[in-house]
Amino acid sequence: MKKILEVKNLKVHFELGGGMFKAKRVVHAVDGIDFDVFEGETLGIVGESGCGKSSLARALCGLNKITSGSALFAGKIDLAKASSKEWNEVHKQMQFIFQDPVAALDPRMTVAEIISEPLITLYPDMKKDQVLQKVLATMKLVGLTQNQVNRYPQEFSGGQCQRIGIARALILEPKILICDESVSALDVSIKAQIINLLQELQQQLKLTILFISHDLGVVKHICNRILVMYLGNIMELGNKQAIYSNTLHPYTKALLSAVPVANPTLEKTKQIQLLEGDLPSPVNPPKGCVFSTRCPQADDVCRASRPKGKIIQEHFVTCFKA
Ligand SMILES: Nc1ncnc2c1ncn2[C@@H]1O[C@H](COP(=O)(O)OP(=O)(O)O)[C@@H](O)[C@H]1O
Ligand code: SF4
Ligand SMILES: [Mg+2]
Repeated sequence: MKKILEVKNLKVHFELGGGMFKAKRVVHAVDGIDFDVFEGETLGIVGESGCGKSSLARALCGLNKITSGSALFAGKIDLAKASSKEWNEVHKQMQFIFQDPVAALDPRMTVAEIISEPLITLYPDMKKDQVLQKVLATMKLVGLTQNQVNRYPQEFSGGQCQRIGIARALILEPKILICDESVSALDVSIKAQIINLLQELQQQLKLTILFISHDLGVVKHICNRILVMYLGNIMELGNKQAIYSNTLHPYTKALLSAVPVANPTLEKTKQIQLLEGDLPSPVNPPKGCVFSTRCPQADDVCRASRPKGKIIQEHFVTCFKA
């Protein structure tokens, strides 16, 4: 399969404050990660809140600056060094869908204005009636009707607002969609509708999707491969079957043990492996394995040195004991 994105040793750091009495601090939000994205796949990126998922997604879209490393898009453009002209090219092919569908839409703009904005920005010479035709066709694609075109976001439900957000991303006919917690804010039944819509669109348009979520139940449903992040690092990466049925990393095991099982008998007998404590601060990540402060299997070696990622049974896993 063709690689559409090749990420190598990518870091996204944020400098905090600093002043007369305070030293500058650095948030290691994404701290040196390597992975590829293949054309047509849905790659799930999971991990607790604060582990760096959005920082990564935003860096891949140009919303955060890449501190170091590289992210090669379509074998041509390194996003770490892309010029504004190259970013325009990338944005024609890679679009982002935000978490909060209602907040993401400008309340002063009509649906037509919201959906057409990226098209008008990137193709300023396109004729008005051509833009309108594209808006109407894209609205139909996501299950919105023509008579909604001149309405405002406030007149829509959360699920419909997310359809508007998806239409805005799709009007450019991108190859990749980055969905950052795009269904997390929705009610259960609406969530299912939007997930089904994304799956249908993916097949119809041969999209590649980066699906970011803290919800492993949803990720299991929609993704082909899964990347598990913890404190800016990759803990485990592999195809869905390998991750769910042959979990190798203690952090992935803990995350999966907390996912409800549909079978009530299994659900009653299941052992939930609670994670003690909170995610450490990415300002001062642990010296050894980043998971060592919470890992039930941690020993002195884990606390003293950092494991390197290795391939075992078709997983990429970062653990001395896997
Ligand atoms: N612009 C920023 N400036 C400083 N710190 C940030 C910024 N954006 C994110 N962070 C920090 O980076 C870490 C990762 O955050 P984030 O990428 O939002 O995680 P997630 O999406 O997995 O919840 C957090 O500690 C967060 O506070
Ligand atoms: S390296 Fe050690 S602390 Fe880190 S996940 Fe493996 S067992 Fe746990
Ligand atoms: Mg986030």
